[in-house]
Amino acid sequence: KFEKIWLTFGIGALIVFLTVLGVSAFYVGNQPPSCLATVNPEKVDTTAPFDQPGLKKVEGKDWDYELVFVAQAFAYTPGDVEVPLGAKVKVIATTKDVIHGFQVAGTNINMMLTPGYINEIVTTFDKAGEYLILCNEYCGTGHHMMTSKIRVV
Ligand code: CUA
Repeated sequence: KFEKIWLTFGIGALIVFLTVLGVSAFYVGNQPPSCLATVNPEKVDTTAPFDQPGLKKVEGKDWDYELVFVAQAFAYTPGDVEVPLGAKVKVIATTKDVIHGFQVAGTNINMMLTPGYINEIVTTFDKAGEYLILCNEYCGTGHHMMTSKIRVV
């Protein structure tokens, strides 16, 4: 009889533990601090700044350029972009369909693009070269081909 009580208690504690773990992982994983603004995933193409992806010079802000990316299975727009060496750039990205990754190899940029959310990160490209952008969230059959490139010159 007592075994049954302890077994029930044990399983109950396990469920509570797993629930807490699952919920916290979900919130931490899906809501990085940069995910403040939202966008309708179906209207990305007509919503600024995503209606004009690419690099844009800005005035009167803490950064010099804004670099806008739109992710969609299985590509990023733009697929290749040139950034001036030493530029302080705010990278702004979202996805039109499913969750995609946005990892810039050789930098600390690693974002999870979630439909409906806008990811932003400010960074300075102070080393010339080619930076590969990779999708590190499995998004379908073309996942491994999903890349873009930032060329710092
Ligand atoms: Cu997009 Cu994997």
